[in-house]
This record gives sequence, structure tokens and C-alpha cells, in this order.
Amino acid sequence: MSSPLSNNERSASSQPSAILGAASRASEQASLHVASVIPPFSQMPRWLQAELRSDHAGEYGAVMIYRGILAVSRDHSVRDFAERHIATERDHLRLMEETVPSSARTQLLPLWWLMGWLTGALPAIFGRHAVFATIEAVETFVDHHYRQQIDRLAEQERYESLRELLLQCQEDEVSHRDEAAGLAGTSRGILMRLWSAIVGAGSATAVIAARRI
Ligand SMILES: [Fe+2]
Ligand SMILES: [Fe+2]
Repeated sequence: MSSPLSNNERSASSQPSAILGAASRASEQASLHVASVIPPFSQMPRWLQAELRSDHAGEYGAVMIYRGILAVSRDHSVRDFAERHIATERDHLRLMEETVPSSARTQLLPLWWLMGWLTGALPAIFGRHAVFATIEAVETFVDHHYRQQIDRLAEQERYESLRELLLQCQEDEVSHRDEAAGLAGTSRGILMRLWSAIVGAGSATAVIAARRI
């Protein structure tokens, strides 16, 4: 299974000294040297390893969602939206690849590759509103997912840098959610509401699986 990262991105992420900007968002927050500020993955408690494994899988899936959208949609507004967001998701994925060693990543990445791609490509067949509503549903889930990790880490001083990293990712996801919600509009048919519920439930199931496998 090939990585959704380009060769340049792969070589950058493989350098220990690479400066890891979490952000391609406009505010461009301070960059982080993940390897130097976060305790080694192997020394983290099991629950945190499982959570980060799910974060890595989720960011991998996010890149695939936008690749699915870009493979199908010819709508300029959708493509502009997807190209901006995929750049941020690739930054997130790079951060997670720095944090979670390859031996500790979920074995279900091929499934995330396929499910992510379909989660982007299927709504793109039905048009821009379906795409934006799908991203709103995904990012609503991801916001809650990061939030519960951030809250739990708040009790553990040793992981303040990791908490800040997750906060940066969460801020980006919230911005993605709000942009998508604004573009999707408020009127949703029954099929779109059903699809959004399926996307939310599918994301929750996938996270549970990635924590364990
Ligand atoms: Fe992300
Ligand atoms: Fe996102």
C-alpha cells in the first residue's frame, strides 16, 4: 500500500531534524520538533499509544478522503476546498508519522485507504453540497475525538507538548468543519442526513478498530 505522501514529503518526514509545522492554516502557528519534545512512543502508557495509533490512522484516512474527492469532482469550488484541506491533512499525517513508529501503527491501513477514498469519492459523485456535508460530519467526529484525548492529557504534565500538538490539529479540524458547514448550507434531505449518520458511525467504528489492531 503506497503512502499518500509525495517523495519529497516522505524524505522530509524521515529527517529527525525536520521542522514539523502543524499548520498550513492561515494563522501558521509555531512549528514543533516532535521527536525532541514528545516522550518516546514506547514509554507512553498503553491507552495513549492506542489513541495515537487511531490518530495516525485518522489522518491517513483524511488524506484519502480528499484524494477521493479530487479523483472524482470537477467542481472548481470543491477542488479548491479539497486542495487546501489535503495540504493540512498531509501536515497532520506527517506529525503523526513522527509520533507513532511504523511498527506501532494500525495494521488496518489498507482498509482506511479504501474507506477514506470512498468517503470522499461517493459524495463527490452527487455534487458539492454532498461533499461539504460529508466533511462537516467527518470533522465533527474528529473534533470530539481529539477533544477527549486533549482533556485526558490535561491531567498529565509530562505530555504537555503532545497535548499542544493535538490542540493544533484539533483547531485545524474545527476550521475545516466550520468552513464545510458554511458551504453545505442548512437544508439537508433525508438521504444526506442518513449518509452523515453513516459517516459518523463508520468513523467511530474505525477508531475503535485502529486502537486495538
Ligand atoms: Fe487532520
Ligand atoms: Fe481536517
